[in-house]
Amino acid sequence: MRVLVVGANGQVARLTVRELAERGHEPVAMVRNENQGEGLKRLGAKKIVIADLEADITHAFKDVDAVIFAAGSGGKTGADKTILVDLWGAMKTVDTAMNKGIKRFVMLSSMGTVDPDKSDRIRHYLVAKKVADDYLKNSSLSYTIVRPGSLTTDEAKGLIKLEEEIQVRDNTITREDVAKVLAGVLDRKNTYQKTFEILNGSMPIDEALDSV
Ligand SMILES: NC(=O)c1ccc[n+]([C@@H]2O[C@H](COP(=O)([O-])OP(=O)(O)OC[C@H]3O[C@@H](n4cnc5c(N)ncnc54)[C@H](OP(=O)(O)O)[C@@H]3O)[C@@H](O)[C@H]2O)c1
Repeated sequence: MRVLVVGANGQVARLTVRELAERGHEPVAMVRNENQGEGLKRLGAKKIVIADLEADITHAFKDVDAVIFAAGSGGKTGADKTILVDLWGAMKTVDTAMNKGIKRFVMLSSMGTVDPDKSDRIRHYLVAKKVADDYLKNSSLSYTIVRPGSLTTDEAKGLIKLEEEIQVRDNTITREDVAKVLAGVLDRKNTYQKTFEILNGSMPIDEALDSV
């Protein structure tokens, strides 16, 4: 599949581009800055498109079969960027996919999104992610929403815990394993119209994804 990775220069997204290429997909990397293209090509991106979620993004969706949304405003910007990127940028990506007739959409969301009121520190972020997730769920797209716990840069373990809502809090998962899940759900029809949380765990990723 030709897969548009939105936010492709991000830490999870770069690993996802590599993972997609290794699985025989053709990643199209959407980045804000031209200089980010070379590194992504080395990871396996077939094409680089320059687009900013705060502006028009329609040109990025040309000849694409699926979209993985892995962008985010990050913890160092204010709530204004949370609204413009994590919320509005995600909703805009959903709308553009629908307008372009692209059916498959994988959303990188976050654990804690089920009930943002349980969080004090990042409640506004979790609300933004929840509204974007709900917007996707109410669309006509074939979606999968992946909600990881706190991300680490450790090496992939290949083993995860996957449930609709995991009761354990304050736990982690490696970015590399998240990337494997994002790439792994892409053509698994049993994960369509599903939302689940993931943490480091004890089940091989393929087995966990097959059980969704
Ligand atoms: N950190 C955690 O523990 C955690 C836990 C659960 C879920 N998540 C979610 O996982 C996401 C990915 O994590 P990560 O560590 O890979 O984040 P990251 O490295 O900060 O990557 C985010 C990417 O989004 C891009 N971006 C920001 N604003 C944009 C815009 N206006 N238009 C286009 N692209 C834009 C950034 O582009 P530049 O490279 O140009 O800055 C960056 O490449 C987070 O954003 C968050 O929603 C995070």
